[in-house]
Amino acid sequence: MEKVKVEICCGTACYLLGAANMMDIEDKLPAEWSGKVEIEAKPCLEFCERENLGGAPYVRINDTEVMAQATPDKLLTRIGELLGGAA
Ligand code: FES
Repeated sequence: MEKVKVEICCGTACYLLGAANMMDIEDKLPAEWSGKVEIEAKPCLEFCERENLGGAPYVRINDTEVMAQATPDKLLTRIGELLGGAA
């Protein structure tokens, strides 16, 4: 697996419902993941409209996977799985 791409939604709903807590996730990545994870803050990814607000905050992973009710811990766990348990 090359890089894991993580897009954190920073639209109003997601930001207020927890995305604000994920903005510093880059600082929490283990050193061995360095260069393997690309983190971006995005404007509303539109999942709050298509899915529902209860799922916020949303994070999109590798362009296709959507994580609802994302938390820093959930996100770190998922990145670890995608990197092959290299945590
Ligand atoms: S504000 Fe996050 S998907 Fe809309």
